[in-house]
Amino acid sequence: MILPIVAYGDAVLRKKGKEVTKDYPHLQQLIDNMWETMYNASGVGLAAPQVGLPIRLFLVDATPFADDEELTEEEREQLDGLKKVFINAEMVEETGNEWPFNEGCLSIPDVREDVFRNQTITIKYMDEDFNKKVDSYSGIAARIIQHEYDHIEGILFTDKLSSLKKRLIKNKLDKISKGLIKVDYKMRFPLAKKVR
Ligand code: NI
Repeated sequence: MILPIVAYGDAVLRKKGKEVTKDYPHLQQLIDNMWETMYNASGVGLAAPQVGLPIRLFLVDATPFADDEELTEEEREQLDGLKKVFINAEMVEETGNEWPFNEGCLSIPDVREDVFRNQTITIKYMDEDFNKKVDSYSGIAARIIQHEYDHIEGILFTDKLSSLKKRLIKNKLDKISKGLIKVDYKMRFPLAKKVR
C-alpha cells in the first residue's frame, strides 16, 4: 500500500525517532508499504518519520546509482549490494574529508542543494530480522545512509545549508508546507487547507 509522504513543515520530521521493538505492530507490513511508497516516488531512501512515524527505521536502495560509469569497481559493488532495512541505527563514526553532493528529499520536492558530509561512515543497526550488524560505507553509499539516518534524528538536509542558501529557499519551503506545489506522488501537507 502506498502511504502519503509527509511534507516539510510537519512536526513529525523534527522528532528524534524512538527505538523499534520486535513486537512493533505489523512491522513487516510497514516495511513492505515503505518500499512500495519509496519506489512509487522514485526515491533511493525513505525513513519512517516521512510516513508519519517517529521511529528508528529507514530503508535504502542504492542500486540505481550503481550504473554510473564513472564509479570504480569497488564503489559499484557497494552500491549494487545496498538494498537494506536499517532498524535502530546508531552512527558509530563519520570520517574522511567532507565532500559536496547534490541532495534532494521526498519530503521536500523540487529542492536540490549541495550538502557537505564526511566521506566514510560506520553504522550499527539491526536488519529486518533483528540481527545486529555493523557496516562501513563510503562515497554515495554513505551519503544515502547519512541522509536517511538524519531523518530518524529529526534532521533535514536543508538544515545543513548556509544561512544565505536557507534564505533563498525559504519561500519554496513555505509553499511545500502549504501544498502549493505539483508533485506526482501522494503527499500530506501540514499547512494545506485539505488533504489532496
Ligand atoms: Ni529525505
